[in-house]
Amino acid sequence: MDRIIMPAVSVKGEITVPGDKSISHRAVMFGAIAEGDTRISNYLMSADCLSTISCFEKLGIRFTMEKSSNSVTVHGKGLQGLSAPSEVLYTGNSGTTTRLITGILAGQNFGAVLDGDASIRRRPMKRIIDPLRRMGAGIESEKGNDCAPLRITPAPLHGIDYLSPTASAQVKSCILLAGLYAEGKTSVTERALSRNHTELMLSGFGARISSEKTPDGWKASIDPGVPLHACDLCVPGDISSAAYFMAAALILPGSELMIRNVGVNPSRCGILEAVRQMGGRIRVLDRRTQGGEDAADLLVSSSGLHGIEIGGELIPALIDEIPILAVLAAFADGTTVIRDAAELRVKESDRIETTTRALRAMGARVTPSPDGMIIEGGAPLKGSVIDSCLDHRIAMSMAVAALAAEGPVTIKDADCVGISYPSFYSDLEGLRIRG
Ligand code: S3P
Repeated sequence: MDRIIMPAVSVKGEITVPGDKSISHRAVMFGAIAEGDTRISNYLMSADCLSTISCFEKLGIRFTMEKSSNSVTVHGKGLQGLSAPSEVLYTGNSGTTTRLITGILAGQNFGAVLDGDASIRRRPMKRIIDPLRRMGAGIESEKGNDCAPLRITPAPLHGIDYLSPTASAQVKSCILLAGLYAEGKTSVTERALSRNHTELMLSGFGARISSEKTPDGWKASIDPGVPLHACDLCVPGDISSAAYFMAAALILPGSELMIRNVGVNPSRCGILEAVRQMGGRIRVLDRRTQGGEDAADLLVSSSGLHGIEIGGELIPALIDEIPILAVLAAFADGTTVIRDAAELRVKESDRIETTTRALRAMGARVTPSPDGMIIEGGAPLKGSVIDSCLDHRIAMSMAVAALAAEGPVTIKDADCVGISYPSFYSDLEGLRIRG
């Protein structure tokens, strides 16, 4: 379905964004292999997180869902309590579901096949196949192309000490989860820290897991066999979803927006740092801890922005926010250079290509590079037709750019926002001030 976004004068008011996608996935997965009932509130009821629930239902786990209040109770069965699925586990569009479940399945005494949509079937799985095989796992790419569908067969696992070539929380989490079922300790080291929700949450469930900074980078280690115990969890709002509203308020003159209850785990807060460097005004208020994760309210005011250069360790902390950061850069004075972000090429779409194409269609000056983009800000953006390429983050980023464009923007396949934020357009409409 296409959607037309009209320009806005400003955005004003208050919003609470839905629960964090990464944390929601993990709460269900860890709850499933914990003993007892895990009660999750503010669960993200989006297509990706529902894919995770549906996979665990096929693995014999029961859920009590209250969709109207975003609550889920996972009736966990312990580390050895999953049962063989009678059909393929379908992970939809979700890389997190695919990669993390594979780690858990590698340790089971039954086989399974995982598959997803066309985007999942293009995404690289060699990054988990290689280390899992080093642990002894039976894992094959059915088409022999290192992509899904993946077939997992039972095999005894042993711990490894893995130096991960990419800072990827999905890879790290996959290996640590397999490590729960291995003989001996398992460690994963990454040069820059990727989001650490797995480490924090597994520790809350009672796993023996530790993290330390070493000369090689950030090292997380887990002991096998320690039973997990059910938890009550309240998921903070998703900073990746909040980023669209931050951007709208920053670029539309006269805007002021309060975004309540946003997760501000430091390994996810790169967007706040990048905005600060650009001259954007975001105040972090009432910082608190909620279920082992940091949360806060964010007060955002419209701001004159200027271009910046970003790369290195900041990139994993804002990897999903780069499309909306590119939109901010298009409205900033001067040039923004984004480097060290080649991982964007293997997300739901090739986000270097899809962001460049979408922004260029609106008249922005963007040059792609192998590992990022160069954006020359300040060119007025015009109304046009944008292909979301079925990528939720491209659709939401371009909807925000459209608010500050000179004419209406049509977004093709706009409903792909349901992957992470089903009520995105109505929430955005609720804040808009019309001319
Ligand atoms: C995620 C990790 C990131 C991120 C993705 C969610 C997670 O991927 O892009 O949207 O929940 O672990 P990588 O770990 O592959 O960088």
